[in-house]
Formats: sequence, C-alpha cells, structure tokens
Amino acid sequence: MQDNLDILSRAIHDWIPADRPVSQAPPARELEQLLDLQLSNEGAGQEALEQGIRDYLHYNPDVSKAGFFKLLYSGLNKPALLGDWITSLGNATMHTYQVGPVATLMELELIRQWNKLVGFDDGEGVMVAGGSQANLIGMMLARHKTCPDFKTRGADGRTLVAYVSDQAHYSAQKAANVLGIGTDNLIAVETDDYGRMIPTALDQAIQTSLSEGHTPFYISLTAGTTVTGAYDPVAECSAVGRKHDLWLHIDGAWGGPILFSEQHRDLLANSHLADSFTWDAHKLMNVPITAAVILVKQPGALQAACSGGGADYLFHADENAAYNLGERSIQCGRRADALKVWLSWKAEGNNGFAAKIDYLQSIKQYCVDHIEAHSQLEMLAPALYLNVLFRYRPAHLTDEEELRKLNIEICAEMRRSGGAYVDYARFKGHTGIRLILANGDVEQSDIDALLADVQRIGDMLVARG
Ligand SMILES: Cc1ncc(COP(=O)(O)O)c(C=O)c1O
Repeated sequence: MQDNLDILSRAIHDWIPADRPVSQAPPARELEQLLDLQLSNEGAGQEALEQGIRDYLHYNPDVSKAGFFKLLYSGLNKPALLGDWITSLGNATMHTYQVGPVATLMELELIRQWNKLVGFDDGEGVMVAGGSQANLIGMMLARHKTCPDFKTRGADGRTLVAYVSDQAHYSAQKAANVLGIGTDNLIAVETDDYGRMIPTALDQAIQTSLSEGHTPFYISLTAGTTVTGAYDPVAECSAVGRKHDLWLHIDGAWGGPILFSEQHRDLLANSHLADSFTWDAHKLMNVPITAAVILVKQPGALQAACSGGGADYLFHADENAAYNLGERSIQCGRRADALKVWLSWKAEGNNGFAAKIDYLQSIKQYCVDHIEAHSQLEMLAPALYLNVLFRYRPAHLTDEEELRKLNIEICAEMRRSGGAYVDYARFKGHTGIRLILANGDVEQSDIDALLADVQRIGDMLVARG
C-alpha cells in the first residue's frame, strides 16, 4: 500500500508539470509505437508499472486546465477527486444497503436534493453510469407506461414513436436501438434559430405518427443542448405531451445545474412538469467521470420498469430491504458514485455551485461581447448558456465549405501549437469553433488569449492560402 501511495504522490507532484500543454498526444498509430503496451505471461516489476502511469498521464489531455474548452467538463474538483479515490479504496457496490451502507444513504440524500431542485416533490431516482444511460432509462420508463407487457412479452407489433429535437444528444438514438424501438422511430423535431424545439412542430410530428397508425409514447426535451446550450420550452412542449398523454423526459445532463442559480434558473423554468430528468454531475459540477442520475416524479416507477430477478440470493426481505437501490437499476454491481458527488456538494453547498454558474455566465458574456465587437469573428448561435459557437470569417470568404475547413484547421493548429483545446461543431449548416465554459478557473485573460490565437492562426492560414 505504501508503495502505491508513494507513486500517487509522485504522480501528483512530479508527473503532471504545471507548464505542460493542454494536449500533447500524437496520432494513435504514432503513440502505439512509442509505448510499451504489451501484456505477457510473466508479470512485470514496479518500474514498468510506473512507466505505464507516467505515459498515461503524460499523453492524456490536461482536463484540469483553463485552456481545456473542448468538452462539457473541465477543471479540478478536489473534494470529488478525493471521493473518487476513496470510492475505489472502499470498493462498495450499490445493489444492497448491506454492501454500501453509507454510500446508499448518501445517494438517497443526493436524490432528495436533486429532486428538490427539479421540483419533483415526492420524486425518486437512482445514480447511473452516465447521461446516456439516464436517457435510456427515461425512454424505458415511457415504454413501460405505454406497454407494460413489453418487459415480459416483448414487442406487441405496435410501432412506438419517440420525439426529440434535431439538436438532441445522440444517446437518444442509442436508447431507441437498445430498447427495441428502432432508430427510424425516433423523430427529430425541428428547432428554431436558438436550437430550441418548436412546440407546434412537435405537435405536428405526433399528429403525423398517429395518422400513420403508430403509437407515440415519449418526448425528450433537452435542457442545454450539446452544441449551442439551448433549452427546449418545457411548458409549451409539456402541453403538447399532455394532450397526447405522452411521457415527458428532460435531458438536463449538461444544462440541469442551471437550477442552482437564482439568477439564471429561468432558462429551465417548469422542469417540474416533466416525468423524468437526466442530470450529470460529471459535467458542470465537475465530478470525475462518471456521476449521473435519473430522477423520476412517480415513486415506484423505476422498480416497476427495471426490477427482475435476484430475490433468491441478493435482495433479502430484511429490515433494510426498503433501502436496497438495486431493483431500481438495470445494473447489478454499481460503483458508489455517490461519495464523490456528496463530498463536493457538502464542500460547495448549493451556493457554491450557483456562484460558479453565475461567474461562468459573466465570462460567457465577456466572450460573446468580444466576438460581436470583432469584425472577423462571428457568433453562429445565440449563447444563452455556457456554449459559445463562433467562427473566424475574413470579409472576403463566403464559401461555406472553405470556412468550415479554415475553422477546423484553426482548432487543430491551436492544439498542435500548445494553445487552448477547442473543438468544432456544425449548427444549421454552419461550422464553427465550439467553446465550452465549464471550468470555474477560466479568467477573462484566457478568453483574450484564445480569441487572439483564433485571429492570429486564422490570418496566418489565410495568408498561406
Ligand atoms: C445533452 C447531453 N445529453 C446526454 C449526454 C450524454 O452524457 P454521458 O456522456 O454522461 O453519457 C451528453 C454528452 O455530452 C449531452 O451533451
């Protein structure tokens, strides 16, 4: 154990130098040649293990840095990191209270707090392995409501149809595949210029399905879309859902935490109208991956849809039976993700997360103001949340394909030259640089440096032709 602690200490202090670039991995084929990855019959000594760890850390992007703008998480949440380590030390599993007693009680407290924020007064929930799984469970709950026999008998010949916006995360497709709905029966409803689902288009899509003899069963709204951070209008879409008696889910994997902020929570008004809700703690709350939850308004719905088996050897009818979370889950062994979320929530309090969101919103506005004031930079979508989608566009360039190539190359060149790590994305036919503000350590000077780099590299590439 002491040897391992020594390695951990050296890894933290010596092997992650503060001045290293955000990203420094060569292409996969090159990296394969540089590393000793081979496993063999004979075990290796400490030196080989240390080398493996050093390589792992050296080539991994430094996601704790302010310059890591690529994904929906960035930064270092120290209480949560500690919680992640202790979770592995304790190695609890979450099917029964007996083998994860404190973790179970912590998870139940988290679920109470999350439900309070969303507005599910008697809600329940269970932590899951990521937002994609939470969205899958949301769809599964809806399927169970419309076709309770699907669980035991399988499909009954009806064509079930689900609705998401054309900006929804691709996990909806995965869910439609896994649950036997069929991805062709997942309808991408049109969005407005903000990337928000248009309620009349939703209604129209449902009417079309009905006229084809199909069975609509599920609407999933997005709170904080992946590319532009748009929030679908909950009240209006919920009215459409009620009219047709459909399950309403909200995918708040990225944008759910806005509910912490008094100043900005209006973006997600009426979340209580949903039947279920996805929340990722490993995105804006910056807990190490994975930490997510599916919240459900109707108590008992999870167990009805997910339970089955295990009674003979695992789920004993003892005095703790009501605390066993396993029957609400589609997993058996489940990591105790509650500890790291609980520790960071305990340390930050609701106010800490609210302050982070309010601060990042002010940085977002600073960034947008600078882009809008700049003659060669252009916003590609309104930025209501913490996504800024923009592009470099010199006055003489109008061809969409050339602009796309140019902006993709700017992202690549910035990363190669040790600058910020951003990615590109397409929205309504235009490709731009997607900047995600998830790291509470980002300062105005980081935004200044990034925008100056975009301008400099853009000018250089244009000059080079
Ligand atoms: C809106 C949205 N929903 C769901 C997901 C999937 O979450 P996870 O990566 O935790 O599976 C993402 C991931 O980026 C997302 O942006």
